[in-house]
Order: sequence, then structure tokens, then C-alpha cells
Amino acid sequence: MPTRLAPEELRSFRWFGPNDLRSFGQRSRLRQMGLGPEDWKGKPVIAILNTWSEINPCHLHFKILAENVKKGVLQAGGMPVEIPCMSLSENFMKPTTMLYRNLLAMEAEENLRCHPIDGAILLGACDKTTPALIMGALSAALPFIFVPGGPMLRGQWRDQTLGSGSDAWKYWAEKRAGNLTEDEWCEIEDGIARSHGHCMTMGTASTMTAITETLGLTLPGASSIPASDARHWRMAASSGRQIVENVWNDLNPSRFLKKEAFENAIVADMAVGGSTNAIVHLIAMAGRAGFKLPLSDFDTISRKTPRLADLRPAGRFLMEDFYFAGGLPALLNQVTDLLHGECLTVNGKTLLENVSDAQIWNKEVIRTRDNVLSAEGGTAVLHGNICPNGAVIKHSAMEPRFLKHTGKAVVFKDYEELAKRLDDPDLDITADSIMVLQSAGPVGAPGMPEWGMLPLPKKLLEAGIRDVLRMSDARMSGTSYGACVLHIAPESAIGGPFALVQEGDLITLDVEARSLTLEVSDEELAKRKALWKAAPRPVDRGYLHLFLNEVTQADEGCDFRFLHNNGKPMPEPKIH
Ligand code: FES
Repeated sequence: MPTRLAPEELRSFRWFGPNDLRSFGQRSRLRQMGLGPEDWKGKPVIAILNTWSEINPCHLHFKILAENVKKGVLQAGGMPVEIPCMSLSENFMKPTTMLYRNLLAMEAEENLRCHPIDGAILLGACDKTTPALIMGALSAALPFIFVPGGPMLRGQWRDQTLGSGSDAWKYWAEKRAGNLTEDEWCEIEDGIARSHGHCMTMGTASTMTAITETLGLTLPGASSIPASDARHWRMAASSGRQIVENVWNDLNPSRFLKKEAFENAIVADMAVGGSTNAIVHLIAMAGRAGFKLPLSDFDTISRKTPRLADLRPAGRFLMEDFYFAGGLPALLNQVTDLLHGECLTVNGKTLLENVSDAQIWNKEVIRTRDNVLSAEGGTAVLHGNICPNGAVIKHSAMEPRFLKHTGKAVVFKDYEELAKRLDDPDLDITADSIMVLQSAGPVGAPGMPEWGMLPLPKKLLEAGIRDVLRMSDARMSGTSYGACVLHIAPESAIGGPFALVQEGDLITLDVEARSLTLEVSDEELAKRKALWKAAPRPVDRGYLHLFLNEVTQADEGCDFRFLHNNGKPMPEPKIH
């Protein structure tokens, strides 16, 4: 049995307990809000970090979600306090939400540190909110549980099921190729997002919440429940009850998370055919827990983890199907031999205990080990003279002809040039060319946007071509697909060798050998390097100044250098 804290050991007691002027002031202000000692005395204060926003459709239901968490907290004898946090809306934020992931992480951390909080519930869903909140909470080092916002219902157009992102890219290509009318395109717009909740493909949001559950930071099964299913409200209330218990038992992820839990998360990422974005976020989250997660870990685990979830964009089904097929616990139950089952989770049980009874109800959606989709995970880590610190490719979601491929580079110096030249009839490009986009990394873009699935030139689309090998220092949406080499590090904007690629250079990709080679001599590259100059920064003030000066490269998780804390919590602010 864990030792339970005494009420005087609660962190919030240091605000509300003492008989001094400062605490008098704080208690009087609690009373100002209509609260009395029966609300706070001897009760853990639970912060609900709510990333609700009227301009974030993935989080539109978070006000009700928060109410359900509060219900659970009150049932268990805690005191809930809802604290609004920045909402990172993938749909509307320019240039990219990735620019603001670390800002939300800082906001979450400081909100927890400066207030009289004993434990936290984190409400997130849309891509970057999940890693951001967890990074912040790990650095604040208080007990917390993540409540995932849940995927939206499947999209529908006529008799076609539509998946977030994936089918937008697919039908946009058909429209540009002249195969879809304007009216049909409008009908798709009307039916692709039918309810609140995050993208319902195995994009970045679904990948990150699956990873979070595997890390042991949600209640078992939480990440797969559709946002509009009543079971989602009940999961939120259960999480509220559980966090109160966890405060009393001092069950604290910043202490119980081990490196092995992050290895489990990589297994889950590969088994679900997850988003490449998860790599950057997992490295950053592990850094906050005090662990270095090298890219080589992803490749090693990918090679031995079978892909079991037949989910778009790499497969056929959507998150609602995944939930009814048994959800993440059923999938993890298939790979227990690859997991560190002893890792602790927020319900006080081990990961193995949480998944050992889970069953698959639809073996088309979640495959068993004797009928895998592929023997290896869908993501490979590449190295070579063009990417000395690594690059990644989701080879499960591309045409197999590119697994080993040499082609001539068609180079776009930045996104503006890409937009300008893409549909130029004179663009010298064939189905075997390699499209290269530079200046799209953490510093170059800035913020490492999801530009990695470069649009294909109209003339190739009209010729029936649907995949071309593309490479960039950008990321790609988890709902995207195609032969896209991503996260090239170091990036071109800081003078990485990727900056030296020129029009017509030959590049060779060999996924089996995990290599990416610019077929240019070292002497020639040295000459080009001597002539290379960094582009001037168009804007250099405010948060962007901080970001550009402190962001690390993709292989280091793009966290800020000064936020690395080697897993050591900062001391609590002195109360005066
Ligand atoms: Fe929010 Fe995809 S836009 S999860």
C-alpha cells in the first residue's frame, strides 16, 4: 500500500493552511469566489488545464469535458479549479502550431508552479496540445493525468467514408487533375468534419494520444473513445476521481516515468502506423522527463514492431472503427512481448495489468500477430551526407518503387519559390525526379511547418502520377502520405548540408540500408559550403526572437535549450 499524504503535506496547504497575513489574504479571496473551508480544507486542489477555444473545433466540447472532470474531482473529495491555457488550433494558426508548442508547454508549467495546485488534469487533443501540456506538467513535476479530447466521428461524402486530412489531400489532387467538379468538392467540404473532436485518422492527434496512453498518462482505453460518445464524459469523470487519489498517494509521473515507458510509446507508434511528428514530440517529452531518446531507438524498435492497426492514412479504417475493434488496449495486448509491461501508469497499475484482458473485436481493423499488416513498423530513420543528424520517412504510406531510388533534384529554395514554380509548364520534372524543399525547418520556416508533403506539379497529376519522392527539413501532417523524407537535420537554414543541394544533383534513397546520399563529391560540397550564407531573418522580435535563438533541431525534439532540465524539477516559488 502506498503511503498516503497527510492534509498538512498537501502543496496547497502551504498557501491556505498557515495562520499568517498572506494566507489570510488568500483564504479571503477564496471566500470572495463563494468558497468556504468545506471546499478547500484538507482537500487536494486539482487544476484542470483547459485548452478550450472558440477557434479550435477539435476542442469545442472542452467546457463540458471540464465539467465532467470537476464532477469526478468533487466526488473524490478534491477541489477543482479550471485554468484556461492557450489553445493550439491546427486549423487556423499561422505559420504553424509547432511554433507555439513550447510556448504552451511553458504556460502549462508556470501555471502549475505558481498556483496552489496539488495535481492536474490536462485537457488536450489537437496535435501539439498533447505534447505541450505533458512537457509542461513533467517539468512542473506535480501528479497529473491527461484526458484526451477524443477523435471526431468519421466523415462521409455520398457513399464514401472520409478521413480527416488524408481525403482532403486525395480529393484535392483529383480536383487539380480535373477529375472532380466544384460542386463535388463543396459536398466533401460539407461532410469531412461532422462532429467535435480531433482528426479521426491515425494522424498526429490520434498518434500522440495513443502514445500518451501507452506512457501510462491516461486511464486505460481513454485515447480511443470517440469525442461524442457518452463513455468519453464518464472517462473524464473517472480521471477526476483518480487524480485526487493520485495526489494522496503521491503517484507522480515525473517520478514514475522511466526510459522504458518511452520505448513502449515507440512500440505503440509503430504498431498503429503513427505520425512521423510523434518522433519530434516524444524526444521532447522524454527530455523533460530526463531521458535522451536518440533517433536510433525509433529505428531499432520500428524494425522489430509489426504494424497491426489498419488505419488511414496508411490503411483503410478510422478511429471510430479502432475503438469498436477494441481500441489501444487490444492492440497493445498483441505486442506485450515487445513492451516493458512493468511500467507504472496513472491508475496505479502496470501497463501489462491494464491491457492483459483486452480483446480484439474486429480482426480486420486490429490485426493479430499471425496476420500482421507488415512485419516492421512504418517509419525508418535515415542517415547520410545530406542528413548527418538524421531524417525520417514513413515508408508504409508511399509507393514501393521509391524504397530504393535515385533521381535528379528539383530544388525549391523556400516555400514561396515552390508555390511560384510548381505549376509552371516548363518545370523540368518527371515522375522519377526528387522534389527538394529547403528553408522549411525549425529556424528556416520558422517553426518547422507541415510542408513536407509537397504538392505535386499539375502536369504530373494530369499524367496520372500520384507519388513523387520529396524531401525537406519540414514535418508532414500525420494525415499525409506519400514518399516524403522529412526532418532533415541539421536544417538548411543553419547551414546543414541539405542547404548545399542544387538543381540537377543526383540523390539516392535506400530505405532498407537506411541511407540518403547526395551524389556529389566532398570537394564540391566543401566549395559550396564556403559560398553559403544564412538568409537574413525577416522578423526578429518578441516570441519569435526567443524561438529562433533557442529552438533545437528535429533530432533533439525542437524544445528550447533553456527548458531542458534533465528531469530535475525547479524549486517551488517561495511564498511571501
Ligand atoms: Fe485538430 Fe487535426 S486539426 S487534430
